[in-house]
Amino acid sequence: MTQFSHESIGPIEIIPAATALGAEVRCGRLQSIDDTIFDEIRQAWLDNLVLLFRDQALSDTHFLEFGRRFGSLKSAAATDSSRQLHVVSNVSVDGLPIGIQGHGEIVWHSDMVSFFKPPAASLLHAIEIPPSGGDTSFSNMYVAYDTLPRPLKRKLAGLTLKHEVSLNSAESGTGASHPLVCTHLETGCNALFLGSRFNTCINELPRHESDILLEFLWLHATQPEFVWRHRWRVGDLVVWDNRCLLHRRESFAANERRILLRTQVEAGAPPRIAADALERPGHQRGLASIGR
Ligand code: OGA
Ligand code: MN
Repeated sequence: MTQFSHESIGPIEIIPAATALGAEVRCGRLQSIDDTIFDEIRQAWLDNLVLLFRDQALSDTHFLEFGRRFGSLKSAAATDSSRQLHVVSNVSVDGLPIGIQGHGEIVWHSDMVSFFKPPAASLLHAIEIPPSGGDTSFSNMYVAYDTLPRPLKRKLAGLTLKHEVSLNSAESGTGASHPLVCTHLETGCNALFLGSRFNTCINELPRHESDILLEFLWLHATQPEFVWRHRWRVGDLVVWDNRCLLHRRESFAANERRILLRTQVEAGAPPRIAADALERPGHQRGLASIGR
């Protein structure tokens, strides 16, 4: 008699979204995964840019422990190494806000770009979610770069962007400059690195030229074809690659409660562009989804 084999039913399932980035991972409780499973998760993260795990209920400690599997955690304040865990929330208790970011829109950005070494990863875990609003969207900056005309790629390869303090992420410190195109340390692919729409300028161009080029790049980079929008449920954990995507959050009603835990992971090195950037192949995830 043929024995039913479970060999093909792995302990992890990766379900890519039908858009240019994102995948849901089903692997049971995140507290219990072993190193082999984590290696698959890490690869899925590099391939899909953002991963969603449903139905987790992590304590602060387990949340930080899971974050630490991606690398050492980064504090959001340069001066305070104890601030690795953040609460993103509009809720106040006794008139005091329990977290950051309020209920308003958070415009497109990457996290902590004004730092010399912005984080490689950011994680959010949903504790309380309003019945509507507060969705978070992610846009794929590999495909944004890969779909630019070659003469423009050549021009961008020599440019750097000055980032001042963003109004939208918990951060301190001013004005690191980073290449406008960065070659990802782990995937080896190039991504646009726009950081924040406001308070940035291209160092090598006169201000009006910088503004025109940035306006064009922002319109291009946030087109709906490159975006995955996440509608939160309580228990969701989302981890994204901060080096190759932008994200934004929609506003929600001020009288609704929204509470998420947030942490971020140190990058191995500051953003840089490889000497042979123009010769590098594109990242497959977004190109495949838009049929290129
Ligand atoms: C942030 C952020 C997204 C959200 O805190 O930097 O982007 O969904 N938050 O609250
Ligand atoms: Mn953010």
